[in-house]
Amino acid sequence: MSFQLEVLPHRDWADSIADLWAERLSDSPGLTMCLATGSTPKPVYRAIAGHADLSGTKVFLLDEFGLEPGDPARCDVMLGDMLLSRLEVPPALEKLNPQAANLDAECDRYSQAIARDGLSLVILGLGTNGHLGLNEPGSGYDSTTRVVALADETMAGLSSYGTTSTTSWGMTIGLAEILSSDEAWLLVSGEHKAQILRQTLIGPVDPSVPASFLRMHSNVIVWVDEAASSQLV
Ligand code: GLP
Repeated sequence: MSFQLEVLPHRDWADSIADLWAERLSDSPGLTMCLATGSTPKPVYRAIAGHADLSGTKVFLLDEFGLEPGDPARCDVMLGDMLLSRLEVPPALEKLNPQAANLDAECDRYSQAIARDGLSLVILGLGTNGHLGLNEPGSGYDSTTRVVALADETMAGLSSYGTTSTTSWGMTIGLAEILSSDEAWLLVSGEHKAQILRQTLIGPVDPSVPASFLRMHSNVIVWVDEAASSQLV
């Protein structure tokens, strides 16, 4: 139970993450990854698109909101804008379909695909309520891919992704699947994440802060900019 904490000046944060990511890709061109969307990874995706080849990789999208296809807050739309459209040859992409007729069967399909392929690297953001993906407070470390009700903070945050729509639900890979990855990176930037980062790294490991379960994993890097690190001392 340990993690590597990297605290970096904001100007170096995204490039440092992208540099190590590019190294991983050069060592393993067929890497199977699970990627978050949201605002946090945007500069990292922009940086990696400039200097790495993802053509042989496979990407599982971490989660999805119960919104209509094409909505700007959809995770697949965000990943397209932030990363896929910037690559000459995109990776193979797997994603959850919130329009599927049978959502439980769709979650089972995704869970089985992750178990079959195995995850080498998961890149995560941190919700201000401690969520990972859409594993909201109350989620157990043994949770798997499923349909979830969104926490109030998560619903309120949807507008920051440029949508005028709202939804009360989403789909997410579970904490068990996140913890099954060979390696996990938690990306955290900005003063508004300082308090929840402290709880994640220093508070109890329990479902009230789902991200705290990353401390059960033996190969985690927490990439933090100076503003987000302000409450760690
Ligand atoms: C969102 C997303 C997550 C994301 C997290 C943090 O609700 N569904 O995948 O990692 O919350 O988002 P942000 O980076 O925008 O703060």
